[in-house]
Formats: sequence, structure tokens, C-alpha cells
Amino acid sequence: MSVIFNRRSVRHFLSKKIDQDKLERILRAGFEAPSAHNRRPWEFLVATSQEDREAIAAMSPYAKMLGGAAAAITVCVNLGIGCVDNPGDTWWIQDLSAATENILLQIVEEGLGGVWLGWYPDEDRIRAFSGRFGLPPHILPFSVVALGYAAKTPEPAFRFDAGKVYYGAYGRKNDGAAEYKKI
Ligand SMILES: Cc1cc2nc3c(=O)[nH]c(=O)nc-3n(C[C@H](O)[C@H](O)[C@H](O)COP(=O)(O)O)c2cc1C
Repeated sequence: MSVIFNRRSVRHFLSKKIDQDKLERILRAGFEAPSAHNRRPWEFLVATSQEDREAIAAMSPYAKMLGGAAAAITVCVNLGIGCVDNPGDTWWIQDLSAATENILLQIVEEGLGGVWLGWYPDEDRIRAFSGRFGLPPHILPFSVVALGYAAKTPEPAFRFDAGKVYYGAYGRKNDGAAEYKKI
């Protein structure tokens, strides 16, 4: 079964460091994401120290698990590259989402666990993170991924819903479609 079907959010970690080679493969996965116009407007800030992880955890009510994680990877956008046509150009949001998901999937491939923490578009979180880590104005933190060796991993989910799939026109079902079984 592929990592896509095994991936679940992990929020409880063992106190064990991640080898640098694993961390680098995880970052490389982020760089391989698809990107509109192939702009690839992402940059990554890795925080491993307890002090830095706790500082990030304190910026969001939903990021407490960072205190026990091995690392935090913050996926940032470089707006100088991501918004070249006009400031209303928001294709970069999809680029950065794809990079974040690639990171989460490689985390599973490496035998680790992780969780996506929403940062953009929360202005307070963006301001706090940018101030603490010295981001220039054209660099925004988009998401933070907490990662480490899982102490507790949720079971794979089964979420396929044939009721939300149409063929050819909205609302049209495919009578010939095979019944979808749990894999
Ligand atoms: C944009 C986005 C923001 C999220 N923010 C948080 C967060 O701040 N804290 C958290 O614990 N989980 C966060 N999550 C994880 C979701 O809660 C999780 O993916 C969802 O409950 C489904 O569970 P699963 O990842 O185990 O399949 C976020 C996920 C996404 C896609």
C-alpha cells in the first residue's frame, strides 16, 4: 500500500533525533512538487532545537506537539518569485500546498510521522514567525510540518466516497463502476 494511504497526522513523538540524510530526502521531496509555470517559489526553514520548536509552538493554539517533535520544517513562499505577474497572483498557494504534501508523504516513506500545521493566511502567526526567524517582507511562512519518530500513529483511514464522484456531468453516476473496496 502506498504512503498516500498510510499517511495520517502524527502528533505524539519519541524523543529521538532524525538523521540528516533522512531530513535531506524529506526536503528534496518538497523541491520535487509540481508548480504553476514551474516557478517553484518555495524556501524551507528547518528548526530542530527545543528552544526554536517551543517558540513556534507558542505562536499557534494548534501546534503544541512541536515541543515533543524532532524538527519543524516551515514551508515558506518567496513572493518575489511566486507573484511575478501581479500581487493578486495566488497560484503559489497551490505550489506550496503541493510541496507541503510531498514533505508529509516522504516523512512516511522514511518511517517517520508528521503533521501539517496551518500558518498562512493567519496574520498573527505569520507576523510572529517572521519576527522570530528574521524573514524579510517578501518571504511568508505558509505551513509548518512537525515531524519525528511516531510514538502513536493513527490507523490508515478509508475515506473514499462514491457519492461524491460523478462521470461526465455533475450528479451523473457510473452504473458500470466496480464497487470500491477497502485496500
Ligand atoms: C491546511 C491545513 C492546516 C492544518 N492545521 C493543523 C494544525 O494547526 N494543527 C494540527 O494539529 N493539525 C492540522 N492539520 C491537520 C488536519 O487536522 C488533519 O490533516 C485532518 O484532521 C485529517 O487527518 P489525517 O491527516 O490524519 O488524515 C492541518 C491540515 C491542513 C491541510
